[in-house]
Amino acid sequence: MANEKEIILTGDRPTGSLHLGHYVGSLRKRVEMQNTGKYLPFIMIADLQALTDNAENPEKIRESILGITLDYLAAGLDPEKCNIFVQSHIPALYELPMYYSNLVTMSRLERNPTIKNEIKMRGFERSIPVGFMTYPISQAADITAFKAKYVPVGEDQLPMLEQAREIVSSFNRIYKCEILVEPQAVLPDNESCNRLVGIDGNAKMSKSLGNCIYLKDDEKTLKEKVMSMYTDPTHINVSDPGHTEGNPVFIYLDAFCTDEMIQEYAPDYKTLEEMKEHYRRGGLGDMKCKKLLNSVMQETLKPIRERRAQFEGDRQYLLDILKKGTERAVEISNKTVAEVRAAIGIDYFTDSTFLDKFVK
Ligand code: TRP
Repeated sequence: MANEKEIILTGDRPTGSLHLGHYVGSLRKRVEMQNTGKYLPFIMIADLQALTDNAENPEKIRESILGITLDYLAAGLDPEKCNIFVQSHIPALYELPMYYSNLVTMSRLERNPTIKNEIKMRGFERSIPVGFMTYPISQAADITAFKAKYVPVGEDQLPMLEQAREIVSSFNRIYKCEILVEPQAVLPDNESCNRLVGIDGNAKMSKSLGNCIYLKDDEKTLKEKVMSMYTDPTHINVSDPGHTEGNPVFIYLDAFCTDEMIQEYAPDYKTLEEMKEHYRRGGLGDMKCKKLLNSVMQETLKPIRERRAQFEGDRQYLLDILKKGTERAVEISNKTVAEVRAAIGIDYFTDSTFLDKFVK
């Protein structure tokens, strides 16, 4: 892993198993980028961030750590090509936010759309934990500690990236340096991937709504979930014209179905678009669409299942990967911290000119 590779950083909160929303939102992109050989990806299990709204149930986080590691390997992340680590064990990620927090105003944090939205979703209002309010600052530290240029995330994280870029530019300007790197988001391929709906048609796939398909779902569970999927409620008889827009079955097909898959599993059509037109015209039943979707999803999840089977018996191996990745992440981020301290001028014990410059 040569140093000149461009750095990627991204991560997930460990509050349960990873689902298809995670997969199309970011995981798939990470694996693609990893496999080009052009990047060095840092993949972070964001346990500190998970604590910002789970301080009272840390066991939920603890229980998710190895499961997420396994999800990562199953999805195709390769510890030989990327660095998987845990956030809570990286000293830089406690120190940098302290410096950055002096560069961000309270009103700027309050305007962060992601924070605003999450406050509403979690019903926090004024009783919001301070740690939660400031997590955009912590997230800027996650990214900049590794000098990451690319951050594969879903659209919902764009305000975090904006905030991180502002911090980078303030820091470099105020401390007259070019140490920190401005990150940019790498978004998923299309709209359907950006906001994968739940199988009940709810706007978001979320564990608490019970509408997720998990990467670890077996063949039978996956099929049951696909077959029970919400579709177009106005499409009652096969001959009725149907809506493809906002229809979960087609949203999933948009996110997962390739032209090759259409040719293999629905050879009556050349493209997904042709099939959608048929559905909109009338004469195409939901059952047929769901059968196609099931084939597409089984094909997508099959290699993921096979890799899971290969790794799941070896817990020690999973822990070793995390430990090694974390040690490496500590080493690299400590270098950034040393540069940051020097730029601010608080490097008293390591700057050899410090004594000379002392004026009595
Ligand atoms: N906020 C991200 C999420 O909820 C997780 C995360 C934490 C992250 N730190 C990050 C993502 C840094 C990208 C970069 O999924």
